Amino acid sequence: MIHVARKKKFKTRMISDKDGIRFATPEPVAEYRAKRLQCETIADISCGIGGQALHFAKYCDIVYAIELDPSKIEYAKKNAKIMGVNNIEFITGDALSSEVITQLPELDIVFSDPARPSSEKVRSMDRLSPSIPEVMRSYSGICSNFAFEAPPQITPERIPFDCEKEYMSLDGKLNRLNLYFGKLKKTDISAVALPGNSVIRKNDVKSHVIKTSKPELYAYEAEESVIKAGLLEQLASSFKDVTDNVSIFEIDEKRILLTSDKPLESSLFKNSYRVVRIMRFDLEEVNSYLKKNSFKNILIRASIEPERYWDTRNALEKGLYGKKKAHLFIKDENAVICEVSDN
Ligand SMILES: C[S@@+](CC[C@H](N)C(=O)[O-])C[C@H]1O[C@@H](n2cnc3c(N)ncnc32)[C@H](O)[C@@H]1O
Repeated sequence: MIHVARKKKFKTRMISDKDGIRFATPEPVAEYRAKRLQCETIADISCGIGGQALHFAKYCDIVYAIELDPSKIEYAKKNAKIMGVNNIEFITGDALSSEVITQLPELDIVFSDPARPSSEKVRSMDRLSPSIPEVMRSYSGICSNFAFEAPPQITPERIPFDCEKEYMSLDGKLNRLNLYFGKLKKTDISAVALPGNSVIRKNDVKSHVIKTSKPELYAYEAEESVIKAGLLEQLASSFKDVTDNVSIFEIDEKRILLTSDKPLESSLFKNSYRVVRIMRFDLEEVNSYLKKNSFKNILIRASIEPERYWDTRNALEKGLYGKKKAHLFIKDENAVICEVSDN
């Protein structure tokens, strides 16, 4: 059955079977990677329905698009036709086989977004197909620069290769992990937030950022890609010319904020808040504060058991008639009440 891709994932209409669409690269990611990997000759050696390869075609002179599954590559060809792309050479076959590799010239870059099991309890590097070591071995005669997509759940220390690990957020959620080898490696670890293309790269300067148990007037939630990359301290120290007073406010295992006495701006922030009140977390007292200060809704940003969630929320929102929306974090016994700030 032919599916036409949802508008959100692709601005351009793409056709596919259900499986191909599910694994296809979202357009902003494909566009970002294509710009970063701009070169003369690139091969996408596991191209699926062409989600990524079609964007390579915009920035590279010639693209070799290789795919094991004949039905997927037929969709990729049709999608190229729909988009009027004519600088892709399609090859059906096993990208690791000599029949395929002998058809290729010297390449500037080999890219692979490999297949992975659709369900795995813990994501691992070992079950990617084709595997990263095999690709690098098979293509070593015709290429020395490689880029791979890997599962973003894998933390940097679990990646056993000398490469740049680039964690990527899309629309506020962790979305991709890209690995860059050879001349494509610019640093050890980096984080990107799309749309917006903001990047932070690990540098060699050790950053010492203070941890605080009480937030300042402003609080910031970093993009998940920054957290996963372990670059929160580095993001904090990047504001040195604005203020020395940026610290880390660790709330619980899942929530960690940067906090400052001055407003900060970065597109690597997912949310920016003004801390309006810190008080004892007592349902009646918090409700009374919210009532007096014209709030209408409260978003609970704390780990509360699902069966207690609605009772808690109803108690906090009881009788609220204002207009404002509060975000409530709970640290130890205290409620940290915030409003979203536009700075
Ligand atoms: C995650 S999908 C790629 C999606 C693609 N990047 C896109 O945006 O449409 C992975 C693809 O790798 C292909 N594949 C797996 N092993 C392969 C191999 N040895 N040679 C060529 N393709 C392979 C699978 O058939 C699958 O279509």
